[in-house]
Amino acid sequence: MAKRSARYVCQSCGAVSTKWGGKCDACGEWNSIVEEVDGGGIGGGPGRKPRKGRVVPLVPLAGATESAPRIRCGIPELDRVTGGGFVRGSALLVGGDPGIGKSTLLIQAAAALARAGEQVVYISGEEAIAQVRLRAERLGLLDAPVRLAAETSVEDILTTLDTGDRPALVIIDSIQTLWTELVESAPGTVTQVRTSAQSMIRFAKESGCTVVLVGHVTKDGTIAGPRVVEHMVDAVLYFEGDAAGHFRILRSVKNRFGPTDEIGVFEMTGKGLREVPNPSELFLGERSRASPGAAVFAGLEGSRPVLVEIQALVAPTALGTPRRAVVGWDSSRLSMILAVLEAHCGVRFGQHDVYLNIAGGLRIQEPAADIAVAAALVSSLAGVALDPDCVWFGEVSLSGTVRPVAQAQLRLKEAEKLGFASAVCPAAQGSEERGSDMRLTTIGQLAELVAKIAA
Ligand code: TYD
Ligand code: MG
Repeated sequence: MAKRSARYVCQSCGAVSTKWGGKCDACGEWNSIVEEVDGGGIGGGPGRKPRKGRVVPLVPLAGATESAPRIRCGIPELDRVTGGGFVRGSALLVGGDPGIGKSTLLIQAAAALARAGEQVVYISGEEAIAQVRLRAERLGLLDAPVRLAAETSVEDILTTLDTGDRPALVIIDSIQTLWTELVESAPGTVTQVRTSAQSMIRFAKESGCTVVLVGHVTKDGTIAGPRVVEHMVDAVLYFEGDAAGHFRILRSVKNRFGPTDEIGVFEMTGKGLREVPNPSELFLGERSRASPGAAVFAGLEGSRPVLVEIQALVAPTALGTPRRAVVGWDSSRLSMILAVLEAHCGVRFGQHDVYLNIAGGLRIQEPAADIAVAAALVSSLAGVALDPDCVWFGEVSLSGTVRPVAQAQLRLKEAEKLGFASAVCPAAQGSEERGSDMRLTTIGQLAELVAKIAA
């Protein structure tokens, strides 16, 4: 028998080395290297000869195709994020912090599908059957014909799924609790998680079931242990929001069968997750009207326009190095906007702390928020409230030029629908985007914005 050798595997990126170290050379993570026994695994152990392969048919690129068959789960916000429903035979990863509501979302989806007549299997590796039932009871889902199991062995799960009716959807909660006999590492290690995920994904492809894997996210925002799983699955959805607040955002960050950057918005209530079909109203709901430092950004999340309040607080500092704190936006992007305001508009922040917050727990990635952020910053510094009926959008370049953004018409329409009367947008966008009753102010340079607020 071949000698089993120890190897050291980074639990963050999966890189393998022959000796232990405090820091992974591949991804730079500290304290992530763990000894794992190389028991062979799928590829065969050391010394094992690979079998001779068989000839696989090669086909031309052109040929009959069918659009991916989908099953809608009946929760429109979830169907939107998956791109129109779960694709049969695909594997999805739903990631999120512990306690954010992943199990709640998936048991609700499972129940909705089961009520629609599909076969659904929910496998809980974290909670006992009684706990899952208790949650289902609280959510009023006990009548849904979902089939349950509390199991963590991949071999047992696969054998169970192979007998009886083929389910349309299999939910594994969570991938970190699974273990397979193919490898000898401990459950939860990157090798176990990767190999278990591989087995489940192969099952999805071969059987045509949709497999949803739940994964916990670590503090730094990556799926605990196996970032590798993200590369293996067809779609990755993140469930985010601050656990203290009650709004949750389901975001698609990878989707082989649909758009990414699509979001679904939910509210956590005493009776589970409730959909929020109009997120703008929600993010603007607690708006403090007409106070300095608040600007409404007409944003876009995936295909959907979302209006959100950007709040800035610029306050004199007692510190040698002033503070810059950001929640919900990119901090290097904030530094850039501050630098452009200083260099091209003569606005000085050197003696001020700057705090920036996106209301409602939303995280904005669009550069189109640049001028809304700049407006909020200048408004707070000057102590002048902005027009509460105005929305802002436009990207700022390092030279201080305001650049056009995508889908201006959609943003303006949403703002108009919600009762906003005017908008400040990039000059290049002003003329082409007529057709609404909104009063448009176009700006070409960031300095014009500063002059407008100070005036
Ligand atoms: P859960 O789905 O268990 O989170 P995860 O699977 O992501 O770890 O959700 C747990 C939280 O949700 C918990 O803090 C309680 C809260 N919750 C509600 O507020 N209402 C409900 O109806 C349910 C089921 C949970
Ligand atoms: Mg859970």
